Amino acid sequence: MPCNCCEITDTQFNEDRAKEDIKYYLKHGPAKQTKLILEAVRSLKLKNASLLDIGGGIGTIYHELMQDVVNNVIHVDASSAYLKVAKEESIKLGKDKQIQFVHADFTDVENEIDKVDIVTLDRVVCCYPNYRELLTVAGKHSKRALVMTYPRETWYFRIVLGIVNFFQKLSNDPFRVFIHPIHQMESLLNELGFSRTSTKCLFIWEMSLYEREAV
Ligand SMILES: C[S@@+](CC[C@H](N)C(=O)[O-])C[C@H]1O[C@@H](n2cnc3c(N)ncnc32)[C@H](O)[C@@H]1O
Repeated sequence: MPCNCCEITDTQFNEDRAKEDIKYYLKHGPAKQTKLILEAVRSLKLKNASLLDIGGGIGTIYHELMQDVVNNVIHVDASSAYLKVAKEESIKLGKDKQIQFVHADFTDVENEIDKVDIVTLDRVVCCYPNYRELLTVAGKHSKRALVMTYPRETWYFRIVLGIVNFFQKLSNDPFRVFIHPIHQMESLLNELGFSRTSTKCLFIWEMSLYEREAV
């Protein structure tokens, strides 16, 4: 589904980048921050779970979790190149029939997407200006847990992003990277009925697992 967000992200997350990412994954396995998400999901001890991977890129999270935790997946992504590569890899793994691939900005199609056990957003909120809207609709779709990675609010990453965004502007590319306020993302998820049960930090990325509070 074409949208402004898709046009912007399609240019940024294009075919070359998707090919590089799958090559890296097949050689080295999941990236460090993605491993934190995988550990967090596995700590929930679920079986045959459903997963919504928003901005799942080449599909690393579900290529891994379909081995032991997850049996059906919805991958919504604003990048058509990433979706294509993710689908090709799923076909190789014989799992494509259990995955729904949706090319869209999730906020535009959320009404058409089923609720699932687990929602993941690996390095996605930082690519989207309106984190409140994205996390609100993401949270609404999770019956059990929401796991995400996002940049830490460090001075050094702020400097890096300032430089990156400056060059984006210079080259007339509308794509920007954002450091959203972590405590405000947390308050929002608390309002939606989630509690943070685990957080792990890397040099740039932080991972948080939010579980739905029992009612
Ligand atoms: C930095 S990439 C991360 C890809 C993958 N999760 C990873 O960590 O390798 C950001 C991804 O989020 C997607 N994205 C950003 N905002 C989105 C939105 N509102 N709806 C769907 N996908 C979105 C982009 O298309 C892209 O695939």
